Amino acid sequence: MGQEVNYSELLYEGKAKKIFKTPEKEVFFLEFKDSLTAFNALKKGSFENKGIVNRDIAALVFDYLEQHGVKSHYLKKEKHNGMLVKKVEIIPFEVVVRNVLAGSTAKKLGLEEGTPLSEPLVEFYFKKDELNDPFVSEEQMRIIYKISEKDISLLCELALMINQGLKELFHRIDIELIDFKVEFGKDLQGQILLADEITPDCCRLWDVKTKEKLDKDRFRRDLGQVKESYEQVLARLQKLNIRKG
Ligand code: TMP
Ligand code: ASP
Repeated sequence: MGQEVNYSELLYEGKAKKIFKTPEKEVFFLEFKDSLTAFNALKKGSFENKGIVNRDIAALVFDYLEQHGVKSHYLKKEKHNGMLVKKVEIIPFEVVVRNVLAGSTAKKLGLEEGTPLSEPLVEFYFKKDELNDPFVSEEQMRIIYKISEKDISLLCELALMINQGLKELFHRIDIELIDFKVEFGKDLQGQILLADEITPDCCRLWDVKTKEKLDKDRFRRDLGQVKESYEQVLARLQKLNIRKG
């Protein structure tokens, strides 16, 4: 207990995480909360130990991706529901990759959920709660938001690399990766790193055999067994013996 650092300076509190300053200038403490929200926080919930479960899943996924050439902000686990991360400035666009049509795009286009796509589809959404994170085209990003063509291409390339790694990782534990959302940030040297988290909060994960959902759709759609599903994802990942570095 004695040597535990107290992270008291809160920099930002989001729906499922808090970010604190640390004594090191380039390092933040990211705390995973037990809360769960959907539909831009219109629906709120929580379950016991969600923070720890998601922190553990994110840590394993970041370690795995690092071994597959994807650099992230993750440094190491810290305290019971947190991790130390490299300080980055978040690029305000969520990057969604879809392998199978589900959720908002399926609904918008009137297509059946579960329709496989012939190749992964990368989409961008502008991070702005007041606007409900609207879809933006690459042209809108370039012309309106002045994101360089080089950065847009890099974000697409990284998102597809992450998709490839994650698809393989989840396939090994009998889970099909339907889609996911990631965020990127720039570190103090201007390098683009994978940031935020990769957990069942921001992925659609279906059991390969039963097609059962093992992600936040269980909460969004009142399917029950939310905690058990998140724990199931963690338990399967832990069996793989993913090592740090
Ligand atoms: P969507 O089908 O609702 O657009 O979601 C696509 C993926 O992105 C899905 O895995 C859930 C994730 N997602 C988030 O993590 N945060 C969000 O705010 C939204 C809308 C989706
Ligand atoms: N993550 C968003 C929210 O907290 C939306 C969602 O995942 O459904 O409201």
